[in-house]
Amino acid sequence: MSAPLPTRTQSAEQVMAFYDAHRTTRRYVTAQDGSPLPLPADHLEAILHAAQRAPTDATAQLYSLVRLVNPAVRAEVAALTTNAHIATASEAFVVCADVRRVERVLEVRGQTPGHWPAIAVHFGIGDAVMAGTNLLTAAEMLGYQGCWIGGVMNGLEGIIDLLALPPGVLPFAALTIGKSAEDTPYRPRVPRPLVIHTDTYHPGTDEEIRAAVEVMNPIAARGDQPGDWARLLRSYFAVGGSMEGREPRLVAALQRQGLWAGEGEAAPPLQSVT
Ligand SMILES: Cc1cc2nc3c(=O)[nH]c(=O)nc-3n(C[C@H](O)[C@H](O)[C@H](O)COP(=O)(O)O)c2cc1C
Repeated sequence: MSAPLPTRTQSAEQVMAFYDAHRTTRRYVTAQDGSPLPLPADHLEAILHAAQRAPTDATAQLYSLVRLVNPAVRAEVAALTTNAHIATASEAFVVCADVRRVERVLEVRGQTPGHWPAIAVHFGIGDAVMAGTNLLTAAEMLGYQGCWIGGVMNGLEGIIDLLALPPGVLPFAALTIGKSAEDTPYRPRVPRPLVIHTDTYHPGTDEEIRAAVEVMNPIAARGDQPGDWARLLRSYFAVGGSMEGREPRLVAALQRQGLWAGEGEAAPPLQSVT
């Protein structure tokens, strides 16, 4: 299928305004009984189409989206990820890296898949993020908001079981979409010179880092409590933070799904995992 190449439809100001309207949203308009408000069929079609139009390395499309429809499955993923809006959003997906399908293509054509677990993670997560980002951006163009949910890492094993994910398929994050039912603040970003580098990497002076923390503090505000971004980052990433708890769960999931390239229990060649 071919489609006409685009002509310019938006000004630079409109593009910036579109991205400024982005808000991660965790509460959605529901039907009167509290169940998810379905997307019109053409909107659902458009966001799924957008996901599949994402560019992809090596032509491989090493990702899959699991669309959560059954209320019981939604409820269980909501519990496993501790993100209640998975049960009530208009649409909810688990976005996965997926090298299994390419292996199937090779197998069906009589080829033997190689052993490349680190490459699988690199390509698979990259493709999954691009597809999910396309989906979310398309939803925002249609007037919805959404939320990525890295909380899947808290319940990786349960999600792999519940969704019957075969070896080669690794959940990256969940993604909810719906009409926002909350008044969500505009959240800041790290100042550009620390993020967009010119020709060579600029690590940032202590002063620039302190200034960036000041800029970012509002993102950690809760109700009337002023924000402390460095404290939030400490709770995630410092010694004893939550990421240290996630690390062994991710390693275990990588091993289970045949995607572990590190020391310790070596991943078997992908093709020998059934
Ligand atoms: C990969 C990823 C995982 C995320 N995980 C969660 C999550 O588990 N729960 C949640 O409430 N928000 C989650 N978020 C949303 C971020 O908190 C949010 O994007 C960030 O605070 C910036 O806010 P903004 O998107 O409204 O600008 C996640 C975002 C990304 C990109």
